[in-house]
Amino acid sequence: MKHQTIEHGNRRAAIGIGLRSFMQEMYAEIKTRVDFFEFNIGKKLAGSMVDWFSNVSNEKPVVLHSIDLSTARDEEFDMEYVNFLKTIYQQTNPCWISEHLSFKDMRKNGLKGFIPVPRTRKSLEVIERKLLQLHKEFPGTQLLLENVTSSFVWKQHEMSEAEFLNRVCEQGSCGLLLDITNVYINSVYHNYDPYEFLRAIDRRFIKEIHIAGYTDNDGTPYDTHVGDIPENVLRMLDWVLDNTDCEAILIERDDRSTDLDSYIEDIERVQKVVEANYVFK
Ligand SMILES: [Fe+2]
Repeated sequence: MKHQTIEHGNRRAAIGIGLRSFMQEMYAEIKTRVDFFEFNIGKKLAGSMVDWFSNVSNEKPVVLHSIDLSTARDEEFDMEYVNFLKTIYQQTNPCWISEHLSFKDMRKNGLKGFIPVPRTRKSLEVIERKLLQLHKEFPGTQLLLENVTSSFVWKQHEMSEAEFLNRVCEQGSCGLLLDITNVYINSVYHNYDPYEFLRAIDRRFIKEIHIAGYTDNDGTPYDTHVGDIPENVLRMLDWVLDNTDCEAILIERDDRSTDLDSYIEDIERVQKVVEANYVFK
């Protein structure tokens, strides 16, 4: 299968947005303002969404963003889900497939969502094995893993997050989907300089950026993917574009807003950074 490519002319990077069911009404307008779309794929995705995604993929380049592979879990993949992902892959011919570098839910421990991984050599072995299988399931397809937020620290950690991400990409032959909002949030949770973290990431691996707004609750940021991407995150985007070869930026919105103007404002904010004419205060 020949994969699609994302064009961005002579701008520094292409800009996309993650499509959600609540965006169907505004899709026609948003389509004219972005270069590509990302589809969020989970086990419970409705058939009507699959049909919509198939149609969209005939109009714009797309990437698939899986949420249910649980790449770090030391168990076999749920093959029913892998096959579901394959069906959508065949229908949409994406530029690449991404997933989170995490456990998906640890119900025994009462944890839900994307759970960060103990950064150990054992975890590296598990992830490498699982990526090897994914490369076999999706031959010739670029696979990306995304850094997630972590509000706690595993006592088992053996290496820094940047070193772990670099080693995952190297050993697993995958790229990095760098979520810069997650980098900022983790830098607040764990009290470090986000630029020091960014400098420690091997630039060769960064293939896509996720960017989003977050909810600030008395100085504590929460990874809520709301609109109004803040200036500190835009500044980090500018740094990453200046210091890496990354050419794809994806705006994430999960606040279920149907206010078209707020989406356009987010897209324009990112555009200004990409076009290097954003005036930072
Ligand atoms: Fe993300």
